[in-house]
Amino acid sequence: MTRKYRKVLAPRGTVPARAPPEERPADLLVLHAAELATLGGLPRPRRGKEMRDLRAIPDGALYAVGGVIREVGESGKLAADHADAAVVIDASGKSVVPGFVDAHTHLVFAGSREHELEWKAEGMSYQEIAARGGGILHTVRGTRAAAEEELYLLAHERLDHMLAHGTTTVEAKTGYGLTVADEAKVLRVHDRLQESHPATVVSTFLGAHAVPPEFEGRADAYVDLVVNEMLPAVAAKTAARFCDVFVEEGYFTGDQARKVLSEAERLGLSGKVHADEFSDTGGAELAAEVRAVSADHLVHASSDGIRKMAESGTIAVLLPASSLASRIPFAKARHFVEMGVPVALGTDLNPNCWTESMALVVALAAHQLGLTPAEALTAATVNAAHAVGMGRELGSLEVGKRADLLVLDAPDHRHLAYRIGGRVVETVVKDGRVAWRRPRAR
Ligand code: NIG
Ligand code: FE
Repeated sequence: MTRKYRKVLAPRGTVPARAPPEERPADLLVLHAAELATLGGLPRPRRGKEMRDLRAIPDGALYAVGGVIREVGESGKLAADHADAAVVIDASGKSVVPGFVDAHTHLVFAGSREHELEWKAEGMSYQEIAARGGGILHTVRGTRAAAEEELYLLAHERLDHMLAHGTTTVEAKTGYGLTVADEAKVLRVHDRLQESHPATVVSTFLGAHAVPPEFEGRADAYVDLVVNEMLPAVAAKTAARFCDVFVEEGYFTGDQARKVLSEAERLGLSGKVHADEFSDTGGAELAAEVRAVSADHLVHASSDGIRKMAESGTIAVLLPASSLASRIPFAKARHFVEMGVPVALGTDLNPNCWTESMALVVALAAHQLGLTPAEALTAATVNAAHAVGMGRELGSLEVGKRADLLVLDAPDHRHLAYRIGGRVVETVVKDGRVAWRRPRAR
């Protein structure tokens, strides 16, 4: 550790910035990374063999000014050119990788569903739990009853935890309000989080997450509400970029999804689909047909659907923690990679699958999806950035991109996948500022 590093950084374990300070961050120099995995070199998502190419620099260095990367290269030159940098991180013997981008979360909700674990232990499926009054509609009741401020504080704290696990960008979906007013309340929380939290928050409208109880048996009428009242308000009054639909038996059909996503597109929102999670409902094909940016889950996606996704360039967002929590099979990630579909990862953080850790997801991707550690890292960073529409701004360590990076307490990125549930992330830098440091063990 250099003297400057010790002098400038906040005490370990703190997240100093509750809100981003107004001033520009000091200039930052990261030196002597055993491996600086840049994930650079391509302006689009990585597919096939590209997912294994981390474009790593040995004895790597990075220099950022005002939160933006200015130079990436070998340590000798950057150390000489920027000897006066205000913050210097000596990453000797450590791997440096881009900050995680969590491409799929249901971040804002009230309450919890730990009682469902006992139902799961009895062998109840996700659908059986929903039929017994659990599942999404349980969380809808709690979220409707919660004030905006309460939701904001809960989600802000969740984001703090996610940042401490190395997640610097988070996609966040609505879907537990399901009235015009309650969906708007959650979207305001997304926008406030984006303004006030150091992490980058990308907002997605998921009004078509479940048919709410007051529309039971009248799904088409609820879809009309989504299309005619919710979507215009979302487009006019919020910063939402995406519109998502849960296509599944008992939730929404392909035709209902087409209706929602085509109106969303007309209003400037890009499409996403919760596709083929519990059964093959043609979700992958639908996502390709409507040229959705991503199709997510895809546990039961057909070979034809995967081929169509490859043709349309739709990104597969795979969610292994969700398979774990719902006790369903894991998506066939190798099939997607081999067919040329870009693969990304997310936690699917929600009350059914409560994990804030993309490091855990990377480990599950390696152990259960069959990805190599390099493929999993690509999926958790640059490909996830493309899946949330931020691929030009972040997700890789390249000149002009935001300085979002992790210093790992390991010489090589494979330890992320290898040390399941471990605390391999040592330092988190967001927009050129040290946002979190791992506390000492004692
Ligand atoms: O992505 N599948 C639909 N939505 C969530 C689960 C939401 C919930 O159970 O509360 C998912 O897994
Ligand atoms: Fe989801």
